[in-house]
Amino acid sequence: MAASRTGIEDILRFYADAGVDEALDEIATDRFGAMPEPLPPKSPAREPAAPRLGSAQPAAPALPRVQPAAGTVPDETQAALARELARKAASLDELRDIVAAFEGCNLKATAKTLVFADGNPAARVMFVGEAPGRDEDLEGLPFVGRSGKLLDRMLAAIGLDRATSAYIANVIPWRPPGNRTPTPHETEICRPFIERQIELASPEIIVTLGGPSAKVILHATEGVLKMRGSWRVHTTAGGKAIPAMPTLHPAYLLRNPAHKRLAWRDFLEVKARLRALTQD
Ligand code: URA
Repeated sequence: MAASRTGIEDILRFYADAGVDEALDEIATDRFGAMPEPLPPKSPAREPAAPRLGSAQPAAPALPRVQPAAGTVPDETQAALARELARKAASLDELRDIVAAFEGCNLKATAKTLVFADGNPAARVMFVGEAPGRDEDLEGLPFVGRSGKLLDRMLAAIGLDRATSAYIANVIPWRPPGNRTPTPHETEICRPFIERQIELASPEIIVTLGGPSAKVILHATEGVLKMRGSWRVHTTAGGKAIPAMPTLHPAYLLRNPAHKRLAWRDFLEVKARLRALTQD
């Protein structure tokens, strides 16, 4: 039976609302992972030609599996390059330019824009989310969609606002297609950039939003519901220890409004710590 035009429009609208707005595979393509096995050589129709006189005949070495195919490079090479480049950035502006020019993460190929940061880089508190969604990708700014509006209200509740007293970034600066979860490889490639971003912004307090951010920034192994609300420490490459509060992601709170009270407690902790640091 042929689907009606309105039926198709409804389905497409549903997909767009769910963040599925790219015609891509369901499963993340590992563009940097193991290379496909080389095709087996065609079976010779005839006896191979006799070696030419004088030409050496070493046994053909098997190609190492990590040998990059044309146009691709193994992940660790990209992660190492990201580390080297991130170290070179002497300011947040330089880091932004470096990330914008970096070609080693496949997410850049499908994202529309780089989502580097928003807010005041000199703010006392830095908020770190997971990865941009559709709205963020369109605007080039983190947390501008529905969860961003909730984050703004949470900031206001403790006397902060994104224009002056909060600095906001994500672990991953490019939107994963269809809002899929970033792969571990993508995360490791992007990790040096967010770590350097934290080091250069040098906030007094970090707030990680959601489990994936806590995992990367705080090396957390437990679930976010378990760890939220208790202070941790993020140590920069230069050795500065920054107190960090893991809390729930605003998108999670939109789906689970009953847990807003938990995030509220975490935000009150942040407010109290800021006050205590001022009095020190
Ligand atoms: N979720 C995030 O983790 N980051 C954003 O910027 C938007 C939604």
